[in-house]
Amino acid sequence: MRLPETQVALLEAASATDTRTIEQLADEVDADSVAVTRAAFELEAAGLLTVEEHRAESVELTEEAERYLEQGLPELRLYRAAVDAGADEGGAPMGELVGAAGLEGSEVDIALSNFARKGFGRIEAGEVIVDLSGGPDVDPDADPEMEALEAIAAGEAGYVDEGALDRLHSRGLVVRSDTTIRSVTLTDDGVTALMEGVEVAETVGAVTPELLTSGEWRDVEFTEYNVEADAETVNGGKEHILRQTANRVKDVLVGMGFQEMEGPHADAEFWINDCLFMPQDHPARTHWDQFGLEVPPMEELPEDLLARVESAHREGVGEDGDGYHSPWTTDVARQVDLRGHTTSLSMRYLSGEAVGELEPPKRYFSVEKVYRNDTLDPTHLLEFFQIEGWVMAEELSVRDLMGTFTEFYEQFGITDLEFKPHYNPYTEPSFELFGEHPETGELIEVGNSGIFREEVLTPLGVDCDVMAWGLALERLLMLMYGFEDIRDVHGTMCDLELLRNVEVVH
Ligand code: PHE
Repeated sequence: MRLPETQVALLEAASATDTRTIEQLADEVDADSVAVTRAAFELEAAGLLTVEEHRAESVELTEEAERYLEQGLPELRLYRAAVDAGADEGGAPMGELVGAAGLEGSEVDIALSNFARKGFGRIEAGEVIVDLSGGPDVDPDADPEMEALEAIAAGEAGYVDEGALDRLHSRGLVVRSDTTIRSVTLTDDGVTALMEGVEVAETVGAVTPELLTSGEWRDVEFTEYNVEADAETVNGGKEHILRQTANRVKDVLVGMGFQEMEGPHADAEFWINDCLFMPQDHPARTHWDQFGLEVPPMEELPEDLLARVESAHREGVGEDGDGYHSPWTTDVARQVDLRGHTTSLSMRYLSGEAVGELEPPKRYFSVEKVYRNDTLDPTHLLEFFQIEGWVMAEELSVRDLMGTFTEFYEQFGITDLEFKPHYNPYTEPSFELFGEHPETGELIEVGNSGIFREEVLTPLGVDCDVMAWGLALERLLMLMYGFEDIRDVHGTMCDLELLRNVEVVH
């Protein structure tokens, strides 16, 4: 019989009477255990040996534990220093003992708390008093945790008392993990094959250009693959669920007849705030809420629009308009900020600045990043994706707005939207949107919307109705996937397991 080299070596090393582990055999034939495991499965498939598997726990010492192994557990060192200082008769000052025991940094706290826990004595008014009278089990010279450490170091983790092992684990001194131990035994057929003689066949694991050009591939023997063998989990690249959902949102909106807007992340306050009839002394315009940039002011603003917006702020719009009577300067309007909403894009498009004058009906959207100086918490990030959108048409009402949201959210399986009247300086009426969190049942805000006021539309030169909104993509994601902390999907605290395993919802 001709077999690949590793299989021959394994067959010769295995025994019919003695069950031997793959690790032992790999050592003996001087091959790596992955190759030997593969060979074992191949030989098992050929009926020449049996492979048995059982799960076992492997216990490894941490670096801290290795240190204690040399120096002794901190509480034992403290105990010995205390006895040396005569603390079993009276007390000994703690400061002295810490030095004598060579305890450093966090070892001091570790020593004190375990000293007390193990009943070696007590600490009173800065003095350590040794008192072993707590019970017959209190014996610093046969400390179960120290003994367990030594046993593990000697490769005898299997004999360690479970309680001591748990203790070491909770002290961060051992790492426990499950492993599969495989062992092999020769079958009768295996013994027969060995007696009849097995030869090494050169086997090839992969076709190379050389094998092909020389024609040698015809004569070589190829290694067989065992597709059932355990393999490492490979986490391939994957589109982030946030990006995935952003793309779905775009598809849905395009399907509803919307076109996509684009524009700068850093923009003039004019587009971000002034066009939206936000007074320049509005509290939301301070650095508490928005990120100002130390860059030169934006010079290229349309002069006539600038004048009309200024007039809306100062005098108001229409016969009954009154304006704000609050300070307004072009310096503030030209200041560049990171946009706190993508409504700045809506202003650029509605004014004709982005793609020229627009005639109703029109529908536009964007799914883009916005930046806010919020406090990080489970539902707030400093930057998030906003789903901005607006519809420009002759006659629009709140029913159109609600109908659009109902249609949009239905595509994502969200059918229990609630609306709450709200205030925005730029829309009247305004509504906040809420959806129910699938896990907690809590109502969470998912967006803000309304119908633009005359004070916004008239300066822009729009003389029909425009309904508009800004929805949070991350909140939509929370309703779809049920996670409770936005930081699970974003940033340095993100939950990689969740991101790897989450199923795509269609
Ligand atoms: N800009 C608002 C926000 O960020 C959303 C919005 C856009 C509301 C347009 C009404 C109209 O919350």
